[in-house]
Amino acid sequence: MLLLAMQTVKAIYPGTFDPLTNGHMDLIARGSKIVTELVVAILRNSDKGTPLFTVAERQEMIAEAIQGFPNVSVTTFDGLLVDFARAQGAKAVLRGIRAITDYEYEFPMAMMNRKLDPNLETLFMMPTEQYTYVSSRLIKGVFKLGGDVSELVPPLVMARMKAKGSARG
Ligand code: PNS
Repeated sequence: MLLLAMQTVKAIYPGTFDPLTNGHMDLIARGSKIVTELVVAILRNSDKGTPLFTVAERQEMIAEAIQGFPNVSVTTFDGLLVDFARAQGAKAVLRGIRAITDYEYEFPMAMMNRKLDPNLETLFMMPTEQYTYVSSRLIKGVFKLGGDVSELVPPLVMARMKAKGSARG
């Protein structure tokens, strides 16, 4: 008798997502095709300085943006990623690599996470070439100076950025 072992893989896609970019969406689309369940997890206690959007706003935007992906959900976390992943029953962490500089940032994080939890694997995926230069930091910087970033973020994010921009005057 032939026994087929079905592997289910739940993965966490962690990040700051301030804001969600088309690069993130590209990775969500790619990741959702290879894992059973993908949880986008927004870090609550980020030390990246004053955010553009609150964590709640980011969660709302991501929830809207992932509506077409039935196996993707969004939540928030703080503390260690490995603890959150274990509590979620996730076997893997998904991260995007755009350029060699990302590797330098990602490698020690992946190794530290492996040291903390040898059972948790980090999966790296590359976004489409079109978005290899796109980062939330660059998006915010260009937008603040009046640059057009509408092709680099989902339309719902663009609308919220414009609303925030005009609210601030
Ligand atoms: O979008 P970012 O800022 O590159 O995401 C970084 C993130 C959230 C993946 C990373 O800072 C993280 O996992 N923070 C949680 C704290 C933690 O587990 N630190 C040890 C990993 S080296």
